[in-house]
Amino acid sequence: MEQTKFVLGEEHLPTHWYNVQADLPEPLPPVIHPGRMDPVTPDDLAPIFPMELIKQEVSQERWIEIPEPVRDVYKLWRPTPLYRALRWEKALGTPARVYYKWEGVSPPGSHKPNTAVAQAYYNKMEGQTRISTETGAGQWGSALSFACNLLDLECKVYMVGISYEQKPYRKSMMEAWGAKIAPSPSSDTSFGRKLLEEDPDQPGSLGIAISEAVEDAVTNDGTKYSLGSVLNHVLMHQTVIGQELKQQLEMADDYPDMLIGCIGGGSSMGGFAFPFVPDKITDGKDLQFICVEPMASPSVTKGMYRYDFGDTAATTPLLKMYTLGHSFIPAPIHAGGLRYHGMAPLICHLNELGIMESRAEHQVPVFEAAVSFARAEGIIPAPEPSHAIKVAMDEALKCKETGEEKAIVFNLCGHGHFDMGAYDTFFSGQLVNYEYPMDKMEAALAELPEVPAEYQ
Ligand SMILES: Cc1ncc(COP(=O)(O)O)c(C=O)c1O
Repeated sequence: MEQTKFVLGEEHLPTHWYNVQADLPEPLPPVIHPGRMDPVTPDDLAPIFPMELIKQEVSQERWIEIPEPVRDVYKLWRPTPLYRALRWEKALGTPARVYYKWEGVSPPGSHKPNTAVAQAYYNKMEGQTRISTETGAGQWGSALSFACNLLDLECKVYMVGISYEQKPYRKSMMEAWGAKIAPSPSSDTSFGRKLLEEDPDQPGSLGIAISEAVEDAVTNDGTKYSLGSVLNHVLMHQTVIGQELKQQLEMADDYPDMLIGCIGGGSSMGGFAFPFVPDKITDGKDLQFICVEPMASPSVTKGMYRYDFGDTAATTPLLKMYTLGHSFIPAPIHAGGLRYHGMAPLICHLNELGIMESRAEHQVPVFEAAVSFARAEGIIPAPEPSHAIKVAMDEALKCKETGEEKAIVFNLCGHGHFDMGAYDTFFSGQLVNYEYPMDKMEAALAELPEVPAEYQ
């Protein structure tokens, strides 16, 4: 009988994070200070991030030890299982072997606590007492609330106003872990008060919430800011996923032909795929890395590879990334975690070098794939990883036509239990696709900052 799941004991939990920067064929472009227009220094970042994380951001060491207290918390849900999707393979009638790495077993329900716990730990070690952050749909805010609670830190979450109204149970979850939540824009910051004076019904955006969380960190003693994706250290903390996956595929006596993951800021895909990058670039394995983004926010497939701000308010350092322009506000698709104008510089660099590839998908076929998967495997996926499910399904169906027996592995990085409203919209036939927003993108791209030619 075929084995359904591949489970590792706690003794197989990785002891180190893997830093793909050590193996890049060309180094990452530097991060640029938006005022001075030269590379940022650790001192520039010190007011908002703990020094240990700043060091990790630029480290070229291949392996960085995971502190024992962080591994101890990871043991609450890690190692996570790898499943062979035997029932879905049968339903699709494919000769392919389809596997999924299931990150939804963490207490907050996604991969996000892999970095939240690490970030809370380094803040605690540096003597901070409080962390501020933003959250869109609530996954990241939940993960950081969970981590701060376990490490005895206060947590302040600025939650995009409209999500605060639409997803009340994410808010309750964060409160259960003791976090304080403000609907953003809020009266707790001067930026929020200014926006509320202009428009008391302002629905908020991720960019506004980031600006409030950063202001909170720089104006409150003992407080630092935490980001749940995009940055190098965040992607590195997620590599526990890919390292476990390697061991589990060995247990299954298999090796992937393709690794598929969704990309919002790029952290789940980075953590899932980076441990396999040396297999491709050093050992010459024929391995496809497929990043999947929403058609409504297609930064890698349709954006420009340029320096841009990480936030809408144009306050962060400049990152070289595929971007739709920092003022681009994506349509209100249900995959809230994929509504971002830019992308992790590491994911962009690997796409630019041709090591990774990307595709964009519309939300209606994404939900169709999610329901096909849920009806075969039981798990109800979040809308974000359902983008990866859509591409895994396409590839499995291609194998059905060609008769190829490929090994297709995707990252199922979160459950959809707080997204049932989106499923309702889909079942009632109200879900719509948003066309690739050419005009809005062109307008936003016209506002990209100019950096000196030597960095372009
Ligand atoms: C379940 C889930 N998957 C994916 C993402 C996208 O982020 P990233 O690309 O950093 O993994 C999010 C972001 O909130 C998320 O909640």
